[in-house]
Amino acid sequence: MQIRQITADERPDTMWPLQAYAFLPSPWTDEQAAANRRRMTFFSTAVNLIAEEDGKTLAGAVALPMRENLRGVVHRMAGIASVATHPSARRRGLVRALLERLLRQMRDEGCELSALYPFRPSFYAKFGYVGLPRQRTATFAPEGLSHLVRADLPGEVERLPMQEGFAELDALTVRLLGERHGFAVYDETRTAEFREMKRWVAVARAGGEVVGAVVYKIDDHAGDLVAGDLLTTGPLGRALLLQFFARHVDQVARIVVTVSPDDVPELWGTDLAVTTESKVSFPAAPGPMARVLDLMALTGTPAGDGAVTVEVVDDELIGGVYRLEGDGGRLAVNRGGSSETRLTAAGLSGLAYGVLDPVDVATRGLGHVDASAIEPLRSLFPRALPYLFADF
Ligand SMILES: CC(C)(COP(=O)(O)OP(=O)(O)OC[C@H]1O[C@@H](n2cnc3c(N)ncnc32)[C@H](O)[C@@H]1OP(=O)(O)O)[C@@H](O)C(=O)NCCC(=O)NCCS
Repeated sequence: MQIRQITADERPDTMWPLQAYAFLPSPWTDEQAAANRRRMTFFSTAVNLIAEEDGKTLAGAVALPMRENLRGVVHRMAGIASVATHPSARRRGLVRALLERLLRQMRDEGCELSALYPFRPSFYAKFGYVGLPRQRTATFAPEGLSHLVRADLPGEVERLPMQEGFAELDALTVRLLGERHGFAVYDETRTAEFREMKRWVAVARAGGEVVGAVVYKIDDHAGDLVAGDLLTTGPLGRALLLQFFARHVDQVARIVVTVSPDDVPELWGTDLAVTTESKVSFPAAPGPMARVLDLMALTGTPAGDGAVTVEVVDDELIGGVYRLEGDGGRLAVNRGGSSETRLTAAGLSGLAYGVLDPVDVATRGLGHVDASAIEPLRSLFPRALPYLFADF
């Protein structure tokens, strides 16, 4: 077996049959294969690895170049996708070999973080990933927002076809990348495909700037208005977009919109009856997972006061002993020392992303946290809910 990096042009004849078999209804049609071939222009910057034997492709894995905000600092991130093995070659360690090489390569090329949507989290936990919150959907009748229909808000919303609204939408996501913990975006090459989506974009503007945008479609008269993430810079952008939704009263029965894990739709209006839910199942509806690929690169991350030495164990990428110090509101990471506190890469990543308390790390079996390390770790890495927006 040999591992080889291939170009996007080689993907349709090597990786795609594995992906299509794993993720699509099959047998697939010639039209589906041709449509996939046309998409390859959007994957020219991806790193594609395959495992081959006797000229046959047995497994593949891809890293998409992305950027992600971790506690206010934007890092390069490797978005892992298209992981699949031929059914007759499964459980031979092929994906383990591919992922180990892919993550090392991405780290060496400067990616400090990695994220993905798992088919089963326990599989990726073996590779150092930890679970992040899944996005939630709010479902409500537009009548619930009737207080907004005639409200005089200082701004306006324009409805545009995706092609026309794409530039402002894209610029808003790049702005939010700098402002929101967990937020992630693809590079320009991959993002360009979203311009082709058959969707509306509602763009909210106030004082000459974009303060919100949401991608949506209407499935039928008296049906649902189904929206993607409610992307806003703050409460005014949200109010403008909700007002736009409210004005669909008597046109659609329900609004279904994706919201960040820290949004609270029941507070959007006094008489708003709303169901806010996040259903997690595998493999259909997983929450995302993420990990740190380069711990030294977290120097400079906003952090509380405290100092502690930890050992990261069982991980080729970030294994070793580190001194972590919060100094003047910023984290300093240095190698060396010794410690009774032993964290797996997933445990360390859970602290860095703000999704696990040091006590959770221990109770989840992601490390041994010495009693003296609990308070410093809690102070250095206070809880912070990441919002992993990465797609329209
Ligand atoms: C999931 C899949 C990619 C695994 O590929 P594979 O080449 O069989 O994986 P490996 O043999 O390298 O296994 C790697 C490790 O994961 C474990 N593992 C494999 N399949 C697993 C599963 N379904 N659930 C939990 N663990 C699993 C293996 O035991 C192995 O553990 P070890 O290295 O500690 O011994 C493959 O079964 C597949 O293509 N499935 C359908 C498509 C899919 O779900 N892709 C993932 C999308 S996120």
